[in-house]
Amino acid sequence: MSSGDKTRILTGITTSGTPHIGNYVGAIRPAIEASKNKDNLSFYFLADYHALIKCQDPKAVHQSTQEIAASWLALGLEPEEVVFYRQSDIPQIPELSWMLSCVCAKGLMNRAHAYKAAVDANQANNEDSDFAISMGLFSYPVLMAADILMFNANKVPVGKDQIQHVEMARDMAQRFNHLFASKKQPLLTLPEYQVDAYVAVLQGLDGRKMSKSYGNTIPLFLGEKQLRKHINKIKTNLLEPGEPKDPDTSTVFQIWQAFASPEQLIDMRQAFADGIAWGEAKKQLFELINGEIGEARERYNELMTQPAYIEDVLQAGGAKARQYSEPLMAKIRASMGIHKLG
Ligand code: TRP
Repeated sequence: MSSGDKTRILTGITTSGTPHIGNYVGAIRPAIEASKNKDNLSFYFLADYHALIKCQDPKAVHQSTQEIAASWLALGLEPEEVVFYRQSDIPQIPELSWMLSCVCAKGLMNRAHAYKAAVDANQANNEDSDFAISMGLFSYPVLMAADILMFNANKVPVGKDQIQHVEMARDMAQRFNHLFASKKQPLLTLPEYQVDAYVAVLQGLDGRKMSKSYGNTIPLFLGEKQLRKHINKIKTNLLEPGEPKDPDTSTVFQIWQAFASPEQLIDMRQAFADGIAWGEAKKQLFELINGEIGEARERYNELMTQPAYIEDVLQAGGAKARQYSEPLMAKIRASMGIHKLG
């Protein structure tokens, strides 16, 4: 199959944190799996311009970029088989972002939920509605649409909270095609979101969704001792060893489920019914997680000492990505009347 016929899968990872096991289970592991399917062409990128919206700590953005790139490579992403790049290495993305913002209704952005949540929070606190809201936050979905449309992505795997943004990208593509392309030969592909129902949303240490903003995560590549410590912190109830426990309300079991084989799942369910001690369940959970990521952790630690190597990988990925973005941008510019005179 030539690269032109393949289904293009595209997703971005905002570089404003350290990957945790929730990111791994919900996004990284399925993405690396999907990239092995020869019917797909995967575009995975580090969304460092997106990071600037919420993070104004230059060191943190830079550090996160290295950590996320090293994580994906350590976990088996094959940079030769996919297009793996850094958003800021593709000048056509912010260029398209501007063009889209000229065809995107402001009213559409008013409905974006990240912005609406910020306005609601301001109103609840008796602040001005616009307090601390940057243009970056407001027009975030336009930049995200540019990320997607610049590569004519067909499918965009995202978490539920991002569905609205992919739908907005679709709206912008439709509007753009209507204005600047013929019906027969649309310039921009209408993307579809992909939310895998079977991909778990992991619970964090306190039982709420695992999320950096709740401070309840288990970072992916903690050393063994630290990993054990974090797992021991997972909230449980006060049931004693020997008392039957309910797997379906247990965070320990929920995380177990994300790493276990079908047999291991059945066995742990039985162990809960038989009253396994929390300490023992946590010990087994540590071994299960450590077994799955132990080797990748070694590669990760090694990669983190080789930033120049990671940079080379990203440079090569950027060059590959621009082979798609440059010719499409030339067509987009021309369609809008931006081209040489004469
Ligand atoms: N906004 C996404 C998030 O916070 C990250 C992202 C940026 C993205 N650009 C994208 C995801 C394009 C999919 C496609 O998770």
